[in-house]
Amino acid sequence: MKVFLAVVLFILPVVFSVPYDPVLSYAESMRSIAERVNSLQTTWRATPSSKRFEGVTENYVRSLCGTLLHGGPTLPVKEIEVPAVIPDTFDARQKWPDCPTIGTVRDQGACGSCWAFGAVEAMSDRYCISFKEQVNISAENLLSCCETCGSGCDGGYPAAAWRHWADKLLYEGIVTGGQYDSNAGCQPYTIPKCDHHEPGPYENCSGSQSTPSCKRSCISSYDKSYRSDKHYGKNSYSISSDVSSIQTEIMTNGPVEGAFSVYADFPTYTSGVYQHTTGSFLGGHAIKILGWGTENGVPYWLVANSWNPSWGDSGFFKIIRGKDECGIESSIVAGMPEQYK
Ligand SMILES: *[C@@H]1O[C@H](CO)[C@@H](O)[C@H](O)[C@H]1NC(C)=O
Ligand SMILES: *[C@@H]1O[C@H](CO)[C@@H](O)[C@H](O)[C@H]1NC(C)=O
Repeated sequence: MKVFLAVVLFILPVVFSVPYDPVLSYAESMRSIAERVNSLQTTWRATPSSKRFEGVTENYVRSLCGTLLHGGPTLPVKEIEVPAVIPDTFDARQKWPDCPTIGTVRDQGACGSCWAFGAVEAMSDRYCISFKEQVNISAENLLSCCETCGSGCDGGYPAAAWRHWADKLLYEGIVTGGQYDSNAGCQPYTIPKCDHHEPGPYENCSGSQSTPSCKRSCISSYDKSYRSDKHYGKNSYSISSDVSSIQTEIMTNGPVEGAFSVYADFPTYTSGVYQHTTGSFLGGHAIKILGWGTENGVPYWLVANSWNPSWGDSGFFKIIRGKDECGIESSIVAGMPEQYK
């Protein structure tokens, strides 16, 4: 019975994969997608509210999925020795409670910069895990100054972000910087927070921002020089798509950056274990994976999104683990921080 159930769960998404109706407005399509998800009683719940998507266009949602899934650099695959025992459940926030960045959900605003967010979030966590250094690595600096990362707010390559951080030839590094309006660090994010497919405290995210220009200086209230604030990576690598290798990397060195294909049902997610159920392909999206577990018998990855804490499950989501759902297991990248002098 258990096996049969698993088969049904895994086959459902294929059978019911229908594109949303182009005749309806985007908001109405999203509402009907959410209703369909909920009626199918899959492993996750959606919010069937058209209000939530009012004023949002499909083009906007496409532009937010700022990860280029094809092309870009490939990083060396790290050799990982998988331990004999891997816990059934792991949450990096609990393993390293003195590292608050692990549980912080940032906001990319109306810019396709998820590729930079997934990277700087995991890098920040890794300085704390490796050296007990509390730091927010700047999404702004990576987004605006990495010339080999892609097209800024129009999308970029997660692997290029990690390579840039650890590049020993250019030795560019990345400075520190907190969220929008935080005044924290050398280069805080300059694109305002907004409500991503969710009524919340901000303006909705319609309209897309252009990539901020690269500045080689810190905000005036910051007490260090741009140069001395730079943080570097020791190396950068990719992880094979094998589940236990990914788990070993996360439980040993901290969260990793992953990327997956976003379908139109994903933005309606509120709780449970996401798997693609209905709706057409919108684009590639990068995120930070910080753990795993099993919910009602369904294995999942625990993931932090960068659509602020009012989206999804307090800014987080779970996605089914072990079947490379939407490619989530096949583009894992990370790196180790270099000790800051
Ligand atoms: C979102 O913004 C657009 C354009 O400014 C507006 O038309 C729409 O009503 C807003 N939606 C919500 C839910 O506030
Ligand atoms: C990092 O950002 C958070 C807000 O997200 C802030 O509370 C914290 O003080 C910042 N840490 C540093 C070291 O700037």
